[in-house]
Amino acid sequence: MERTPLHLGSKLSNTGDSIFSTMSALARQHNALNLSQGFPDFDVSPKLIELVNKYMKKGFNQYAPMPGVIALREALSVKIKNLYNQEYCPIEEITITPGATQAIYCAISAIINEGDEAIIIDPAYDSYAPSIILNGGIPVHVELNASFEIDWPTLKSRISSKTKLLIINNPHNPTGACLNKSDLESLEKLCNETDIFILSDEVYEHISFEKKHESVLAYPELMQRSIAVFSFGKVFHATGWKLGYLVAPNYITKEIRKIYQFVSFSANTAIQYALADYIKNEEHYLCLNDFFKAKRDRFISGIKGSRFDAVSCQGTYFQLLNYNTISQEKDILFANNLVLKGIASIPISVFYKNKTDRHYLRFCFAKSDKLIDNATELLCTI
Ligand SMILES: Cc1ncc(COP(=O)(O)O)c(C=O)c1O
Repeated sequence: MERTPLHLGSKLSNTGDSIFSTMSALARQHNALNLSQGFPDFDVSPKLIELVNKYMKKGFNQYAPMPGVIALREALSVKIKNLYNQEYCPIEEITITPGATQAIYCAISAIINEGDEAIIIDPAYDSYAPSIILNGGIPVHVELNASFEIDWPTLKSRISSKTKLLIINNPHNPTGACLNKSDLESLEKLCNETDIFILSDEVYEHISFEKKHESVLAYPELMQRSIAVFSFGKVFHATGWKLGYLVAPNYITKEIRKIYQFVSFSANTAIQYALADYIKNEEHYLCLNDFFKAKRDRFISGIKGSRFDAVSCQGTYFQLLNYNTISQEKDILFANNLVLKGIASIPISVFYKNKTDRHYLRFCFAKSDKLIDNATELLCTI
């Protein structure tokens, strides 16, 4: 039937389909190996599936409490104490959400009012800027330097009287960079000189290969003004379950929950009960580092001899490759042509407001060894 559109007035007029949907669709269309989107192609632990099943069969199929199942929040409080030596109250300071993206949205919505500025560090995960704009805020983009490090003096120079929030992502998607202790100390210093809040996206907290993950939660001065966001989907190879959580001091959590209750109200009940049991065994998440390090090393050794240059990947399950010695084409064009040759990746310029293009592509190595081998063999022919 013909549709006659009324005037709608888009709130995100410059936003189209995300690059992840576009590249995945292109990969399907050309039957290419898909290393574009950030999800694993291997199964969730059968033990965890069994637990979900158990709780579904036991009848845990109705709404969970708004902030999440208390058993899970208690287990997370213990986990945070063990890992970061910080006390967070499970009742007032830990909130379970349907995925980290929704946690990010609700956190931004609670902090940002009309006209407030929020600093985003580019290249950045694509949900930050739209979430700021939807809440009437102004994203201020500061780029990582050429070595993908934060240039703290530059960042400081972009803070104005309107700056309300700084968003960091550590370990960092898409570059694979991890912050050092000295970065967190610079952040602490910056915070002491300003009144900004910190939103720390730590969904890859358990994938930090070279050094201990530096969480804002471990820094007493930072945690007072920080919201840290996590994703069970990333940790337990279950991105489709869309379950995450946020941790913040009670005065911030209170405001976030006011919003969250009307965005979703609550998250999947049976999965929360299952995770409450499952994460009591810390082996289930502490093993992730070695697991993904082996995948990263397999990918890197596979492309030795290719014409691509690999950036040192310190964390996450993404590897950046530079193709400067192969072509001077724009990265989107190069990535599109690469799909036609059989492999899908993500061009990095899309993560920059200014579309900065230094000829990098992102490859997700959270894939079966066979897929990694097939992909690296193909990359060696380019
Ligand atoms: C940096 C970053 N933050 C947040 C998310 C979203 O996590 P979730 O799937 O739990 O919403 C992703 C997913 O790719 C991510 O890479």
